[in-house]
Amino acid sequence: MVAFPEVRLRRLRNLDPIRILVRETELSAKDFIYPLFITEGEGVRNEIGPMPTCYQLSLDYLPQEISEIVSLGIPGVLLFGIPKCKDPLGTGAYEETGIIQDAIKVIKKEAPGLLVITDVCLCEYTDHGHCGVLDNGRIDNDKTLELLARTSLSHAVAGADLVAPSAMMDGQVKAIRTILDYNEFQDLPIMAYSAKYASAFYGPFRVAAESTPQVGDRRSYQMDPANWRMAIREIETDIHEGADIVMVKPALAYLDIISKVRERFHHPLAAYNVSGEFSMVKAAGKNGWIDEQRITMELLTAIKRAGADIIISYHAKEVARWLG
Ligand code: PBG
Repeated sequence: MVAFPEVRLRRLRNLDPIRILVRETELSAKDFIYPLFITEGEGVRNEIGPMPTCYQLSLDYLPQEISEIVSLGIPGVLLFGIPKCKDPLGTGAYEETGIIQDAIKVIKKEAPGLLVITDVCLCEYTDHGHCGVLDNGRIDNDKTLELLARTSLSHAVAGADLVAPSAMMDGQVKAIRTILDYNEFQDLPIMAYSAKYASAFYGPFRVAAESTPQVGDRRSYQMDPANWRMAIREIETDIHEGADIVMVKPALAYLDIISKVRERFHHPLAAYNVSGEFSMVKAAGKNGWIDEQRITMELLTAIKRAGADIIISYHAKEVARWLG
């Protein structure tokens, strides 16, 4: 009895209640983390051109945004900062009163139970737009580690719940774990952007975060999209350095990586459904070329089915609304 006519797989598809019973993957608002772009100034609520429904927000607009996110049942936010001034060493990233440090306090006051995750990187804060310190046109890996560590500590001190290093420097997780432990933040977890590819899908984000490299590109630190074994090594090293959660980024063109990581490791796995993936859906939806809601749900279900436990997505709020 393994073939037709005894076997009829359509029996399980005829009735909605049966389809629901045998459904293997279901999205929930609780799966999502919503990214926010926080900017200096007052009264700023700029919609990001290629990312409709997403805004650069100043601190005074933050409480309103946060209460909406909480009411939708989304468990956490991921913060990106757009500082007033940029310099070669990305000082704004680790200032005590930097934009992110201030934003954390505002959010914690508004919603103490909302998980505040901070992106730890220098690219939004350096005038050259690279994720690390430049030395004669090259990224100095080890000098960058110290600044990433300081950035993480400043986020922890401000009240962040989780830090997420995204600079793709070797040793960044270890450097951050070390400084956090030394300062009695041994209970603060790290979500490592472990397998982060040098992707054209980050284009709209760089508009949003004003972080496009002024010279060159990020291929000396972010991964080659052609590689999967290298991704496994990146995940392995981050786990050895102390990562609590690992990440694959982008998500949709890298579902094979998500699935391979899921099979090989038991750490919680996050997938970042990045800006370009979002923009493409929005653009086609706006033109009426696709059924935007169904396409969005299908894509996000695929990310979860591939093995992601946590989905970072600009779609989070609308999905939470659709799921009611
Ligand atoms: C780096 C960072 C980037 C993203 C998240 N963290 C951009 C980059 O590496 O250029 C991209 C996210 C997205 O495209 O949505 N701080």
